Amino acid sequence: MDAGARTDIGPPPPFMATGPAVGFGAWAAGGGGWGPPGAGDAAAREAAVRHALDRGVTFFDTAPSYGNGASEMLLGRVLGGRRDAVTIATKVGPRDDPQASVEASLGRLRTEYVDLLQLHEALDGWESQLEALAHLQAAGKARAIGLSNATHLQIRRARELAPIATYQGAYNLFDRDVEERELPLCRTLGLGFLAYRPLASGLLTGKYAAPPVFGPGDHRRGIYWFQGAEFERRWRVIGQLGALAEREGLTLAGLAVAWVYSQPGVTVVLVGARSAEQVDENLAGARLLTPATRAAIDRLVGEAFRPARATAEGRAQAVSWGERERFIVERLDGRTRYEQIAAEWTARGQQPMITAQIRVLVDRLRDRGLVAQD
Ligand SMILES: NC(=O)c1ccc[n+]([C@@H]2O[C@H](COP(=O)([O-])OP(=O)(O)OC[C@H]3O[C@@H](n4cnc5c(N)ncnc54)[C@H](OP(=O)(O)O)[C@@H]3O)[C@@H](O)[C@H]2O)c1
Repeated sequence: MDAGARTDIGPPPPFMATGPAVGFGAWAAGGGGWGPPGAGDAAAREAAVRHALDRGVTFFDTAPSYGNGASEMLLGRVLGGRRDAVTIATKVGPRDDPQASVEASLGRLRTEYVDLLQLHEALDGWESQLEALAHLQAAGKARAIGLSNATHLQIRRARELAPIATYQGAYNLFDRDVEERELPLCRTLGLGFLAYRPLASGLLTGKYAAPPVFGPGDHRRGIYWFQGAEFERRWRVIGQLGALAEREGLTLAGLAVAWVYSQPGVTVVLVGARSAEQVDENLAGARLLTPATRAAIDRLVGEAFRPARATAEGRAQAVSWGERERFIVERLDGRTRYEQIAAEWTARGQQPMITAQIRVLVDRLRDRGLVAQD
């Protein structure tokens, strides 16, 4: 332990011991990346955080990059007086100096330590970044450390380097890559699993009947499911989810949150909100869905995302394409799920692949008549 390390920060964070919880994802509330700087009503966004706290939410996730510090400052303002009652998780960017980053975060968050310090993304050089996080933990700056946006291979390797407690990955009823390797691995290793984007960045609330046009400075402009064939597919499913939500006495947002909450191995569902009303709607999802509803959702999603089959012409053309495209096309047999294909590629230990990349490629191939739907 480093000289001057704090020893009075208590036992491991409570989120390690408890079951699923709905946490507050403070990216959108902090502004930045969700429209021009300060987009939306700042008072409403602050009220969202206060309301979450009043409603008993104890887990708050943020990052220095969210609104260039604005999200952390908001949490510092609102949570300051209740520091001991909440768990604050922040991050260190893959290219940032960990020590400088965490010191700046602690200043903005108005706290001497964070409960969880996560490496935001496991890019080249991630091992030494993680080791630096472990030193910061030993120095008392963080009660626990974790990884985000990493492969199952990196999670395994991380355990050899540092005592990571959590993994944070994207997870909602449409985006299910983590089910292949990362989520089961976290369960096996006893790591907390923090699920982000449970509402697919707002899409699953059902409020977009047509592909939305987001303003400048809104990261959702670049998200593929808000456009084209992927939007159409998801919208069809969302249309069918309404009856299931009603049966469960939930809104669509509540149903989407509850779906993630109900998945074995999920420790915290990190859901974003920009108003107190959104917080209330989302917190209704802090409950288990019936097995029948879960099965019905899975059937609807499975039907809408039936894998395509490469045509003979598609296979012939793919022979001259890049290794990654060839790998995908060779496995398009009308049965193998894209999540499996992506996980199989990732398991080779080179570049990771996610299902989104396959869906985008297959849509392009479909336009050229190189894949068919059985
Ligand atoms: N580790 C990572 O790389 C990473 C990446 C992304 C997110 N995260 C974490 O995960 C958290 C959640 O993800 P996210 O915020 O990107 O996506 P999300 O939780 O799927 O969507 C949140 C957005 O949906 C809309 N919304 C929420 N509740 C609603 C409701 N009841 N009715 C209508 N609209 C509603 C709001 O935006 P509008 O009001 O603008 O529609 C809100 O900002 C983030 O805050 C962050 O902490 C981590």
